[in-house]
Amino acid sequence: MNYIEFGKNNVMLSTVILGMMRISSLSPKETENLIETALDCGINAFDLADCYADGLCERIVGKVLSNRPDLRDKMWIQSKCGIRRDDGLKYFDFSKEHITESIDGILTRLNTDHIDSLLLHRPDTLMETEEINEAIEAAVKAGKVIDFGVSNMNPMMIELLMRDVKERVCTNQIQLSAAFTPSIDAGLHVNMSSDAGIERDGSILEYCKLNNIVIQAWSVLQYGFFEGVFIGNSKYAELNKVLDRIAKEQGVTSSAVAIAWVLRYPHKIQAVIGTTQAKRVRELALSTEVTLSRREWYEIYQAAGNTLP
Ligand SMILES: NC(=O)c1ccc[n+]([C@@H]2O[C@H](COP(=O)([O-])OP(=O)(O)OC[C@H]3O[C@@H](n4cnc5c(N)ncnc54)[C@H](OP(=O)(O)O)[C@@H]3O)[C@@H](O)[C@H]2O)c1
Repeated sequence: MNYIEFGKNNVMLSTVILGMMRISSLSPKETENLIETALDCGINAFDLADCYADGLCERIVGKVLSNRPDLRDKMWIQSKCGIRRDDGLKYFDFSKEHITESIDGILTRLNTDHIDSLLLHRPDTLMETEEINEAIEAAVKAGKVIDFGVSNMNPMMIELLMRDVKERVCTNQIQLSAAFTPSIDAGLHVNMSSDAGIERDGSILEYCKLNNIVIQAWSVLQYGFFEGVFIGNSKYAELNKVLDRIAKEQGVTSSAVAIAWVLRYPHKIQAVIGTTQAKRVRELALSTEVTLSRREWYEIYQAAGNTLP
């Protein structure tokens, strides 16, 4: 496993994070096994959100922590808030009141006195940055939250937050995989008239690098917006052919190669994996053992159906 320094205390975090968005059908015992497997592989970072299965995912992890309090110190736990569903209506809420209530809800469900990182989940156009500052400052001061970050934000939103929020934005969690590359395509097609050159997120990768903001890539094995897994998928035959070949050469699975492709970006970057199977956690953790040459990286990019100018 590889590690990066993160946050105000420079904690060493694994570059593979175990995402727990899909654990709602697991029992606490199965979840405990998943967590222990991750820890055994050197994965010490765990990602949740208050909205995952309406809080059920956090409650399951909370049960694990109440059965096994010894695990808490071994786990760096991140959660997110700001996505609401009220009577079937989805919306985003970064109001002081909602952030404050959300943090307390997260701590209660997780059965812990603090989380190591809190992310604002999806941009709320109506956000008032001064209010966000008040909510985050109070939570940090009370020891409920250690570090602060964002998710799915563009550079200008982060600039706005950095102007008014005293806590540093430590990370931005964005969607990125070998088959989902808008943040990369635009940079490769600067000055071109093709659609690939359309700048959708304001050079977010370069911006994070410039500002020492850790990039956390989510859905590292998915294509589209939750359309499915590209590994073994006939829609991505060429990509799978290349991944399989490299996997065979390096003695790992093609999924591990696909994650290594994300981690090859030359900055502090973490891959948030979402498997619920302990066996797969072991396979995917080996992604940090894979070495991809520049040539292989570009080969994978193009095998996914992308072109270069
Ligand atoms: N910030 C955001 O807006 C945002 C959005 C979405 C997700 N996330 C975070 O990112 C994490 C990962 O997202 P994700 O679950 O979409 O990631 P993922 O790792 O791309 O997908 C995991 C899913 O793929 C399935 N899968 C099928 N074949 C697989 C294979 N060969 N290897 C591994 N998994 C395979 C897994 O099933 P099995 O369980 O059966 O292995 C699981 O359902 C989430 O848990 C969450 O923490 C954040």
